[in-house]
This record gives sequence, structure tokens and C-alpha cells, in this order.
Amino acid sequence: MIIAIDGPAASGKGTVARALAARFGLPHLDTGLLYRAVGFAALTRGLDLEDAAALAALAAGLDLAAFDPEALKSGPVGEAASRVAALPQVRAALLKLQRDFAARPGGAVLDGRDIGTVIAPQAEVKIFVTASPEARAARRYRELSQRGEAVSETSVLEDIRRRDARDSGRASAPLVKALDAVELDNTALSAAESVARALEIVAARIAPPASGME
Ligand code: CDP
Ligand code: CDP
Repeated sequence: MIIAIDGPAASGKGTVARALAARFGLPHLDTGLLYRAVGFAALTRGLDLEDAAALAALAAGLDLAAFDPEALKSGPVGEAASRVAALPQVRAALLKLQRDFAARPGGAVLDGRDIGTVIAPQAEVKIFVTASPEARAARRYRELSQRGEAVSETSVLEDIRRRDARDSGRASAPLVKALDAVELDNTALSAAESVARALEIVAARIAPPASGME
């Protein structure tokens, strides 16, 4: 079983993906970390974030295990990730790794922006997790301030809106709900309620309730 979770920044994709992976005993890949690792490495090396050839070479040689996951979670790294992710050459360099993960025997859970549309269009379950920009900014603000980053809620909301526009507006694998994805708007839900709703969506896909029409 492949479970594809997509959605905008700080919508709660990771929370849902981790919970489903644990519930079904499946491996989980947070594909945002791949783009964040490329962004982080590019910032560290002082690369131009528009130098597609250099960034694609970086992405092709990427070893995610070599990065400290905590270092990848910062605001500036998220912004750099979204910029490098707009380059088709970078996306192409990361494609095989993600497709191989999705094709693992027994299945997998992947979360990102283009899992249900590009990486695993054959996924049995697709969930598009979303929430209002204000709710997402409040969540991200809490996370970043807990990390000790000096941010304001207004600046986090601006960052989220800019990232939404870039991720949805790019030509290459834009953030878009797959036609066969189920939308989970968790603006008014707690993380636990969002996970419970995701479990219902999976259950309905795997064993749809009898229609009673036969
Ligand atoms: O955690 P958050 O939702 O803020 O972002 P993320 O999932 O870590 O992804 C960081 C950036 O990587 C996003 O803004 C996207 O531009 C890009 N990304 C992508 O293009 N495709 C994916 N499958 C995953 C992430
Ligand atoms: O992976 P993504 O960036 O989409 O979001 P996340 O890391 O799963 O969640 C961002 C934050 O929102 C975390 O601190 C969650 O606990 C919190 N949250 C949530 O995931 N779902 C809700 N319905 C409410 C809050």
C-alpha cells in the first residue's frame, strides 16, 4: 500500500504521515527534507540559488543521512528549499530516489507536494492536507520560536504566503490536489483529530463501506 500525503507548508502533512506509517508499519519519507537538504547545502556553500546545473549536481549526490534533521528545519532553509525546488533539474535529480522509496515491497508513506501527482500517481491512498494560511502560520511560528528563532507571527505568515504562491505557481510539479485525493482541511482540528480523520480516509479507501445497492 502506498499512501501519498501532499499539502502546503505547515499544514500537518508530517504529523499525519508519521502517524499513518506507525499505524500500518510502513516506512515513511518526508520528501521536503530532500529539498531542504539541497537548500541547506547550497546556502552553506554559498551557491547561487538559481544555478540549476550546480544545484542539480548537488541534488544528484545528496546523502540525506549526512544532514542533521534539526538544522534543516529553520525558516531560511525552508525558503531556500522552495527556491531550489522550483528548478526542474533539481526535481529530476531527486526523482529516482523518491520513486524507489515508493516502490518498496510492502508499501510506503511519502509526504510532500507532488507525491500523488508525480512521484506515486498509482498510490492507493492520497490525502491532501490543508489549513488556512493563518492557522499554518500560527503553527510554524510556535515551532520556530521554540527553536529560538527570532521571528514574528506576521513575518511567518508572509513567508508562508510567499512559499504557497511559489510552490503552487511553478511550472514543474506545482502543489496541486490530485483529482483522486481526499482533502483534509484541519484548520479547526487538533493534530490528534487530524490524524483520526486521516485514519478514517484510509479505512474508507481500503475497505469502502458496502453501498447496499446490490
Ligand atoms: O515543512 P514545510 O511544509 O514547511 O515544507 P517541506 O515539506 O519541508 O518542504 C520545503 C519545500 O520543499 C517546499 O516549500 C517545496 O517548495 C519543496 N518541496 C517540493 O517541491 N516537493 C516536495 N515533494 C516536497 C517539498
Ligand atoms: O509537515 P508539515 O510541515 O505540513 O506540518 P507538521 O510538521 O506535521 O505540523 C506542523 C505543526 O502543526 C506541528 O507542531 C503539529 O503538531 C501542528 N498541528 C498539526 O499538525 N495538525 C493540526 N491539526 C494542528 C496542529
